Amino acid sequence: MQLHDNPASPFCRIVQVLIRETGQANDVEIDPAIGHPLASEKMPVAQNPLGKIPTLSREEGPALYDSRVICRYLDARVSGGMYPDGDALWDALTLEATAHGIMDAAVLMVYEWRARPEEAYSKDWVEGQWAKVTRALDAIEARWMGHLAAPMNITHIAVGCALGYLDFRHADRDWRAGRPNLSAWFEGFATRESMKDTAPSA
Ligand code: BEZ
Repeated sequence: MQLHDNPASPFCRIVQVLIRETGQANDVEIDPAIGHPLASEKMPVAQNPLGKIPTLSREEGPALYDSRVICRYLDARVSGGMYPDGDALWDALTLEATAHGIMDAAVLMVYEWRARPEEAYSKDWVEGQWAKVTRALDAIEARWMGHLAAPMNITHIAVGCALGYLDFRHADRDWRAGRPNLSAWFEGFATRESMKDTAPSA
C-alpha cells in the first residue's frame, strides 16, 4: 500500500498514528504529496479525483480516501479494535467528528492567510473559525474527558492529532487556557511513540 501523505497535515497524521498503533508500518510506503490546488502538480489526482490527502493506494482495489475511510479500512484489515462495538460507536464517531471539525477550522485559518492576497483576508472569518475550535474544545473538556480516560480508540488519535495541529500552527492562541483536563490528557497522550514519530513538520 502507498499512503499519499504530507507531514504537516493533521488528517494524514491520524492515519500515520493509526498505522503505528495497529502494527502496520511495514505494510505502507509513503508518497510525499500536497493536497491543495495551489500545488496541483503534487496532488494525487490519478488516485483521487479530489486530489486530497491522505489517499491510500492499494494493490487489492481502488484507492481509498479520506482519512476516516482509510482509518476504518486499516483497522478492519488487522482487526485493530480502534472502533467500539454497539451503541458506544455513535459516541466515538461523534467525538471523532468533533476532532475533525477542529482540524477543518484550524486548517482553513492557515489557508486564509497563506492562499489569499492580503486585501482579501477576512479577520472576521478567521475569528469565526477559531470560535468553532474553542466551542469544540470546551465541549470536549466538559463532556468527553471520561471517554478519553478509557482505553485508546480512534477518538484518542483524532483528538490528539487535532491538539497537536493547534500547537503546530496556532500556538499563539493558547488552547490550553481554561482546559486543565484536556491539557493534562494531551500531555500524556503526546508521549506515545506513535505521536512522537509523527510530530508535524512543514
Ligand atoms: C499545513 O501546512 O498546515 C497543512 C498542510 C497540509 C494539509 C493541512 C494543513
